[in-house]
Amino acid sequence: MTQTDAPSLWERFGGDPVFAPLLADFYARVAASPIRPLFPEDFAETLQKQFAFQSEFWGGPARYSPWRGHPRLRARHLPFTIGMPEATAWLACMEAAVAASAMSEAMRPMFLERMRAIAMAMINQPVGDPPRDT
Ligand code: HEM
Repeated sequence: MTQTDAPSLWERFGGDPVFAPLLADFYARVAASPIRPLFPEDFAETLQKQFAFQSEFWGGPARYSPWRGHPRLRARHLPFTIGMPEATAWLACMEAAVAASAMSEAMRPMFLERMRAIAMAMINQPVGDPPRDT
């Protein structure tokens, strides 16, 4: 098997049939979490963006950049106050959604490790400050 024939990580995670329900469940959990106020009222487009991003990020169909351009994720998250509490809440929703998903258990740690790294990189508030009132 040549490298180009090797299944992408997107496929190894389960591809569209795993990610579509997983990310829908993720945003249902976000909607019931403390970070809900950061998001638009309707999650439909946010869900589409996340699905497109994950697809392209893991070597599946390039659905994000033709639509949204370069991800520039840190820049796109700067308008939102993201400290350790927000990153932790985001990750808790993702961990629960993965646990409830059809993703193979063998692949879950790799996926979640990368989500954790990106979530930490989105933090744009000093870590270790006293808790905010908000
Ligand atoms: C650390 C906690 C995080 C918080 C609180 C957060 C919050 C948000 C918010 C409020 C938006 C805007 C929603 C919208 O405009 O529809 C957004 C967009 C987005 N987030 Fe996050 N996010 C976090 C982490 C992550 C991580 C870890 C990833 C990737 C693995 C990610 C990927 C995205 C993408 C792809 C978009 C859409 C960007 C665009 O095309 O406009 N986010 N996020």
